[in-house]
Amino acid sequence: MVETTITVIKADIGSLAGHVVVPDFLLEIARKSLKEAVEKGIINDFYVTHAGDDLELIMTHHKGELSEEVHRLAWDTFMRGTKEAREKKIYAAGQDILSDTFSGNVKGMGPGSAEMTIEERKSEPIAIFCADKTEPGAFNLPLFRIYADPFNTAGLVIDPNLHDGFIFVIQDIHEQTPAYLQMKCPEEMYDLLALIGSTGKYVIKKIYRHDGLVTAAVSTDKLHQIAGKYIGKDDPVAIVRAHSGLPAMGEVLEAFTLPHLVSGWMRGSHAGPLLPVPLRDSKCTRFDGPPRVIGLGFQVSNGMLLGPVDLFDDVAFDITRRRGMEAAEYLRRHGPFMPHRLHSEDMEYTTLPSVLKKVAARFSEEEIVPTGKAKDTSDSAE
Ligand code: F6R
Ligand code: MG
Ligand code: MG
Repeated sequence: MVETTITVIKADIGSLAGHVVVPDFLLEIARKSLKEAVEKGIINDFYVTHAGDDLELIMTHHKGELSEEVHRLAWDTFMRGTKEAREKKIYAAGQDILSDTFSGNVKGMGPGSAEMTIEERKSEPIAIFCADKTEPGAFNLPLFRIYADPFNTAGLVIDPNLHDGFIFVIQDIHEQTPAYLQMKCPEEMYDLLALIGSTGKYVIKKIYRHDGLVTAAVSTDKLHQIAGKYIGKDDPVAIVRAHSGLPAMGEVLEAFTLPHLVSGWMRGSHAGPLLPVPLRDSKCTRFDGPPRVIGLGFQVSNGMLLGPVDLFDDVAFDITRRRGMEAAEYLRRHGPFMPHRLHSEDMEYTTLPSVLKKVAARFSEEEIVPTGKAKDTSDSAE
């Protein structure tokens, strides 16, 4: 049986009018580059899209995960785009390109990637989710709901194929050297939740069915750890397989009906709701957001991609978006106050520490009383 690898590689290499949206000419450059790669036999098929200011390359091929050829293709495509973006003075041109030279694969070089190698089933429906203005842990909650919450996924209760549960691979993304852990659900559900509730540290990397069938993959690349400073959030992507012994596409999408709070939004420093949006609304505006996710449905067929279906382009998600905007409105009223603004630990790599450094020296052990003589102003209105 021939194996097909689905590779999604993304980078923010510049956007229009601030960090709003990928300009059309960058999408065109990427399409041209990937079309040439199909002609050369590097990849089988592709779809180019964007999530806000992130350029997304969705590719299928038979070269396996971490293929040097496929990763180089993505890297060269981003370099081509960056050159043009710089010439046109597009905002933050080349933002996620953190190295001058390619070394084997895009890991640790700025772009994010999620990959999955599958033996195609009789029919292979998949969804690709791409989020902007948030971080990889944003997918923890919906993925948990899809694969472990019977109130979300009816199949966990009524389909015997799903009854034996799923294996979650968790990555501690604070560790410089990758640290992974496996947990089985439902048996270890409480332990799993104890970890993945900390969305900034423990991130779902992959999910397998109990028998080892791979079913979900997430990009877990942390830009600030690579660069040592804030350069934008690590806007994540996820690949999810559906149906035939896995959660149905409708169960996968049901998990996005709570516009749950994620970290990111303005300056990567605020909690905000994750709005599921159609492609035409895949641009970040209000307070650089709110954080958004697009969902594209495909059939993988003999290594090719049929589709996409714009999965959130449906009135069924209007109520989620409205609730999300009500939450956004409420949160925004808090301005710079926590918990709308993130905890200072989560701001470590932003520009906040340099502001705090400036005032740090002014702290003293004694409570300071301002000097000067207070005036009696009780008659001043007369
Ligand atoms: C968030 C993001 C934006 C920028 C903000 C400031 O991931 O990219 O919210 O942080 O617009 O941008 P600069 O620092 O480029 O002025
Ligand atoms: Mg940007
Ligand atoms: Mg982005």
